[in-house]
Amino acid sequence: MTGGTRLAGSTVLITGGGSGLGRRMALEAARRGARVLIWDLPAASGVQVRDEIRSAGGAAEAETVNVADRDAVKAAAAAAGAVDVLINNAGVVTGKLLLDAGDEDIQRTFDVNVLALYWVTRAVLPGMIGRGRGTVVTVASAAGLVGVARQTDYSASKFAAFGFNESLRAELRAGTTGVNTLVVCPYYIDTGMFDGVRTRFPRLLPILNEEAVAAKVLDGIESGRRKLVLPPLVNLVPAARLLPVGAFDRLMDVLGINRTMDRFTGRPAEAAETPGGKHDGGS
Ligand SMILES: NC(=O)c1ccc[n+]([C@@H]2O[C@H](COP(=O)([O-])OP(=O)(O)OC[C@H]3O[C@@H](n4cnc5c(N)ncnc54)[C@H](O)[C@@H]3O)[C@@H](O)[C@H]2O)c1
Repeated sequence: MTGGTRLAGSTVLITGGGSGLGRRMALEAARRGARVLIWDLPAASGVQVRDEIRSAGGAAEAETVNVADRDAVKAAAAAAGAVDVLINNAGVVTGKLLLDAGDEDIQRTFDVNVLALYWVTRAVLPGMIGRGRGTVVTVASAAGLVGVARQTDYSASKFAAFGFNESLRAELRAGTTGVNTLVVCPYYIDTGMFDGVRTRFPRLLPILNEEAVAAKVLDGIESGRRKLVLPPLVNLVPAARLLPVGAFDRLMDVLGINRTMDRFTGRPAEAAETPGGKHDGGS
């Protein structure tokens, strides 16, 4: 098994690092001694996190990069220099029924949640392979293991992200490159991205805490973990698929999975553009 990547002394690139889980991972990676590169779209949010890190004595850079823009990604990667850990974290959600979602929403979901994985990873991976060390993290979702009502685009994009990681893991292991992969599949997290969601059995399927998820991802990078599924109950999804389809669907309904999005509001557009998104007070 490929080993983990120690964060102290490493350069960690986090897409979508200006808000939510990405911001949290940026702060904690810097606290653990990494130099953090933040790529995000709203310029101010990445800069704010960079400044938070610097004022705590850490090392950070922030660039405005649309990860869905192939040329912008290539240029930013060339300027970034060596990256030891890539965290593909940037993501978007539509949260609408298939027939209510706009064409542009669906396109954006696949551009950001799927195609950007290719552009960013292909830009950064050759350097890792050349140096014989590194970790590529793909932030997928529990929605990449089970389809959820009002998530036809989001869930499909996260299934794709899961498959992307699994294939990449096979390629890297086969080549004994020294580069590890980690896929992260969390249930809902209290970042604001999924504001309004409800969970039927909070003890079994709690809304996760942003800070705790961030710490687990970074622990996983350092220990060489290859898959992180949260909370543990979600690990039973593959076993539940042995059931006939009707029984599987009833089980998901009993767990309330397909009602979780009924009151979804997401983050209001203005708040999404506010530097840093949600901050410490709310988690
Ligand atoms: N919040 C949850 O419940 C939850 C659950 C499972 C998985 N996830 C995944 O975790 C990741 C982080 O989500 P979050 O909850 O922190 O959401 P968030 O909205 O707080 O953060 C997402 C970040 O991605 C950035 N981003 C979006 N489009 C971009 C683009 N084109 N280029 C560059 N940056 C872009 C946003 O500006 C934002 O900073 C996402 O991939 C999300 O799908 C979230």
